[in-house]
Amino acid sequence: MSGLFITLEGPEGAGKSTNREYLAEHLRAHGLDVVLTREPGGTPLAERIRELLLAPSDEKMDADTELLLVFAARAQHLAEVIRPALARGAIVLCDRFTDATYAYQGGGRGLSVERIATLERFVQGELRPDLTLVFDLPVEVGLARAAARGRLDRFEQEGQAFFQAVRHAYLARAAADPARYQLVDAAQPLAQVQLALDALVPQILVRCRG
Ligand SMILES: Nc1ncnc2c1ncn2[C@@H]1O[C@H](COP(=O)(O)OP(=O)(O)O)[C@@H](O)[C@H]1O
Ligand SMILES: [Mg+2]
Repeated sequence: MSGLFITLEGPEGAGKSTNREYLAEHLRAHGLDVVLTREPGGTPLAERIRELLLAPSDEKMDADTELLLVFAARAQHLAEVIRPALARGAIVLCDRFTDATYAYQGGGRGLSVERIATLERFVQGELRPDLTLVFDLPVEVGLARAAARGRLDRFEQEGQAFFQAVRHAYLARAAADPARYQLVDAAQPLAQVQLALDALVPQILVRCRG
């Protein structure tokens, strides 16, 4: 048996967490076993690595250190949560995964795609998400929503140029593989976003039961 691995991607304030809950409720109502999780994090050890990644600090974190911490957390998360859940046939709904690494450490920090792809193969083997929802919205809109949430983390403190590069990287990845990626217009009112998600549910059910 093998489950379905769905990831939610997009910048801060795009609505990933809000809509992850919404989608999970919907899928559970259809009787499906849904595991909600997030990156970086998803296990106690990986959440400790998340704290290292997000905490603002006077010592500037080297981009390679950041990349390796992201994949270290991911290795733990895969071993403890994602692979076991998929093996028992669950749907894993994960708030950020390796596309975020391509977007933030690749687009944002400027690390090469090759470097990231090497670690992706090392840590994940052949495992890739079955479906990736990319919540897309103008940078200013996302940052305004994130700022309204309170204190900014180490990534949220980055400027417009960083987030433009993040957005561009997400859009380029989505455009390169339309079979795996679904773009969601996250600038719309929440009710509209959720209508777009409703429309995806039948497609997810078919994949689960197919
Ligand atoms: N479509 C939307 N329109 C307006 N506000 C939204 C929308 N989606 C989410 N929000 C709000 O924006 C903030 C960030 O949403 P959140 O789900 O935490 O985003 P993310 O997890 O992508 O950072 C929250 O306060 C949320 O209520
Ligand atoms: Mg969130």
